[in-house]
Amino acid sequence: MMNSMSMKPRNKVVTLSQFIADEQEKTPGASGNLSKIFRDIKLAAKLMHRDVNKAGLVDILGAHGSTNVQGEEVKKLDVIANDEFISSITAGGDCCAIISEEEDYIRHLNPDAKYVIAMDPLDGSSNIDVNAVIGTIFSIYRRVSPIGTKATEEDCLQKGVNQVAAGYVIYGSSTMLVYTTGNGVNGFTLDISIGDFCLSHPDFKTPSTGKIYSINEGNFHQFPQGIKDYLKKCKEASMSARYIGSMVADFHRNMIKGGIFMYPQTEKAPNGKLRLMYECNPMAFLCEQAGGKATTGSQRIMEVEPTELHQRVPVIMGSAEMVDDCVAHL
Ligand code: AHG
Ligand code: MN
Ligand code: MN
Repeated sequence: MMNSMSMKPRNKVVTLSQFIADEQEKTPGASGNLSKIFRDIKLAAKLMHRDVNKAGLVDILGAHGSTNVQGEEVKKLDVIANDEFISSITAGGDCCAIISEEEDYIRHLNPDAKYVIAMDPLDGSSNIDVNAVIGTIFSIYRRVSPIGTKATEEDCLQKGVNQVAAGYVIYGSSTMLVYTTGNGVNGFTLDISIGDFCLSHPDFKTPSTGKIYSINEGNFHQFPQGIKDYLKKCKEASMSARYIGSMVADFHRNMIKGGIFMYPQTEKAPNGKLRLMYECNPMAFLCEQAGGKATTGSQRIMEVEPTELHQRVPVIMGSAEMVDDCVAHL
């Protein structure tokens, strides 16, 4: 029989809320508003976890029957995710505006709040119907216009270097929330038995190089010559091609294992496919904070001057040495 003397001490469980509260305490003058936004994101992420996991049981699979501003088919789960995150953030009251992949224009919220969020509520939509990994991406900025006024386009179109926080939720074999506030990257796994995200990947760093390259090679003939040359090198080195078609999933795997993710310009899409404000900038912030690099091929992603809410940019990101090598081919 086990007595109290022989019991092993339990590993200390750090929940996301506790971690954020500790971080806030270390930040002199922090108002707590950012922590409250994380509380709202966490709630929406848990609701999404629930919805994603019953996607096959209820009527949420398949097309919604409308198209978004970029002419793409909107899936039902895209709409559900958009509504869940926006409702939670609106109810929390700590953001003055949201921009979302699924919203044509800026959604104005509490004029007395000081933060703006950009988000891709459901990333990897084409994976929904086939039970593969999907995610949510978010990016948080401090507004530049005065508190108490309606948020402006300038508040919503800031360079990635101005992000105060960014992260993603990945709905995979487990659900994780990974974020940065500029002091490294930390990952939290949802323990459904206690209904909370627990610190599982503290101070997440990506290897400086790796063996994985991720790109939609179906577009090979449309790639710039430099990308074709780099891909030839990847094949000659017998690297592993891995591409899920969900940026969150491809990025997450490469962050852990080391690798490079590319969505370059093509003949049909001269600026690539991925969106600067709610896909590339947040992932670039996380990538750099984990020790990696993120570039358009000619410029650091986070220094690109945004001009439109749904702007696209080519992206090459991941392990620093691999990104440098790829860029050297361009
Ligand atoms: P979303 O589902 O939010 O529209 O994003 C899909 C994106 C990204 O997740 C992925 O890396 C890329 O589109 C895949 O595009 P291709 O199918 O052209 O490879
Ligand atoms: Mn996306
Ligand atoms: Mn999306």
